[in-house]
Amino acid sequence: MNASSSRWHAGAIRSRLGVPRAKGGRPDADGKESFLSRRRFARILLVAIALLTAGLLASPRIIQAYWGRRASNPVRRGVARARQLGCFSCHGNLGSTGIKDPGGENLEVPAWSGGMSMMYVESDADIHRFILEGSIPKVESGEAVATPGGEPPKAAVAMPSFKSELSGSDLEDLTAAFKVLSGMVAPPSDTPEGRGLDRARTWGCFACHGPAGSGGLPNPGSFTGFIPGWHGADFQDMVRDRTEFDTWITKGSIPRLAANPVATHFMSRQRIKMPAYRNFAKADLDDLWAYSRWLDRTGGGIRKEAGPHP
Ligand code: HEC
Ligand code: HEC
Repeated sequence: MNASSSRWHAGAIRSRLGVPRAKGGRPDADGKESFLSRRRFARILLVAIALLTAGLLASPRIIQAYWGRRASNPVRRGVARARQLGCFSCHGNLGSTGIKDPGGENLEVPAWSGGMSMMYVESDADIHRFILEGSIPKVESGEAVATPGGEPPKAAVAMPSFKSELSGSDLEDLTAAFKVLSGMVAPPSDTPEGRGLDRARTWGCFACHGPAGSGGLPNPGSFTGFIPGWHGADFQDMVRDRTEFDTWITKGSIPRLAANPVATHFMSRQRIKMPAYRNFAKADLDDLWAYSRWLDRTGGGIRKEAGPHP
């Protein structure tokens, strides 16, 4: 902005605001009355207004980016990355059903869930190898490569190598997502936490709260832009104690947030609301609570527990 245009702006602002031209200012270089301090003030005001407007326009995004990073966890990142990389094209949505393969060993690509994957993988290293190398075991045994004069590969669909597509924490995140979705790491079913997992599956909680309560699915209009998870930073903000946990589930909201005007503003605008499961019994809540504690102890269900649980 050059001097004359900024003078024009200052003048325009003054006349809009109805500010009279000051009398008796110091004469400046070109002899006119000097409004240097006012002009500078007007310019600062303009910049401030521009910055404020930009800040207000960008703030939901800034807030959401901040919260997104703060509440991030390996399972949440891994599931999102698996979508981007096309893993679910062959393994089914969230690894639920593999596509058919007339020549495949089991006539289909293995689903991640349902026990089939246990035939292939026992450790993190096995999962890494599949993701990095693809269908390497068959390649090693010569089954999947057409050798000159040999049999062509029977399977139509082969697991690709993703080595060149990965960066940062991708490999660990994908591994975490696979372990949770396949049930490779899950609480024993005869424990409260195991029953909590079953109940969460039965009632479809994960459809909103993400696999194993990893959170992060979109919620337009909400403060953070996504549905919270059941462990980590989101959970600690939203659930201070067992009473709040139970109240969230049975009432769909808690008094602490209902009393906060900023929270209620966003809670009324968010498109997806927590349903109120009014008829849940104490036993349901005990088990769901035990499961959320188990998630906390196992980093979201990706680590085996070190010792006997309390
Ligand atoms: C083009 C289809 C296809 C895509 C895309 C694909 N896979 Fe696979 N995947 C397979 C096939 C086929 C197998 C069975 C491999 C074999 O028998 O050698 C497999 C096996 C696996 C296994 C071994 C355990 C199991 O479920 O049997 C893992 C782990 C795996 N895939 C992870 C992934 C991940 C992670 C991605 C995305 C980064 C991915 N896959 C993308 C076809 C695919
Ligand atoms: C239709 C989507 C939906 C379903 C299904 C759902 N929730 Fe929620 N839940 C939400 C949303 C959205 C919030 C955040 C509410 C808010 O900010 O007002 C929430 C919040 C919560 C909270 C407190 C915040 C946190 O960090 O999780 C708990 C605990 C909770 N839900 C448990 C459950 C349980 C248990 C089930 C299954 C019985 C369940 N939810 C099913 C959408 C859902």
